[in-house]
Amino acid sequence: MSKLHIIVGSTRPGRAADLVVPWITKRASAHGAFEVELLDLREWSLPIFAEHMGTIGDRRDPTYSEPIVKAWNKKMKEADAFIIITPEYNHSLPAVLKNAIDSVFLSFAFRNKPVAAVGYSGSIGAGIRAVEHLAQVIIEGEGVPLRNTVLIPYVANAFNEQGEAREFAASVSLNVMLDDLAWWSRSLELARAAGELAPGSSRARAAIAEAAAAAAEK
Ligand SMILES: Cc1cc2nc3c(=O)[nH]c(=O)nc-3n(C[C@H](O)[C@H](O)[C@H](O)COP(=O)(O)O)c2cc1C
Repeated sequence: MSKLHIIVGSTRPGRAADLVVPWITKRASAHGAFEVELLDLREWSLPIFAEHMGTIGDRRDPTYSEPIVKAWNKKMKEADAFIIITPEYNHSLPAVLKNAIDSVFLSFAFRNKPVAAVGYSGSIGAGIRAVEHLAQVIIEGEGVPLRNTVLIPYVANAFNEQGEAREFAASVSLNVMLDDLAWWSRSLELARAAGELAPGSSRARAAIAEAAAAAAEK
């Protein structure tokens, strides 16, 4: 089974996330491909990102500025796959979620792993812009954002008394997304086990240093 971390990207009191999260968690757990762990950023009070080489220490086992940052990196590294549940704040993802992603620093915990997104909002926007922006952020973290997402407009009225999505299309999109996530997770687990390239940024740095050294010798 793939280890799936579900990250809850809103932390404010009275959040609508509490309508969305039980539905996603229940369906992901019932899918059969995943061992699910819920990571609620309310329970991960990460400091505002402030890591630098002085807080890292040994790059192979970074210290970080606070133990919780180290624990967060370790926790993220354990996952094979992610679902990120995000509302839309000012046409993007909430700062608390961006901060949690930025805090995955030098551990490459998203690298070569699939990341699925669930977006929602209080209006017709459905979190589309947050989800699109999240994909850009994940690419820079070397994660693999999935094409198929779940989008929930008018979140306050989106679920019935049993906690199920009222819109059949939402239910279908969740099935599609979970099937894709399972496929990508299995595929990338095999690919990672077969061997990974060093991160592109390190390879580019090494190639430039090598070229500079060769030029200096001439
Ligand atoms: C700071 C802030 C910015 C928001 N910006 C948008 C927006 O750009 N687009 C949108 O559709 N809804 C926007 N909303 C409405 C939220 O999507 C809606 O309130 C949703 O319930 C937020 O999720 P939460 O309650 O789990 O935090 C915004 C809400 C807040 C608090």
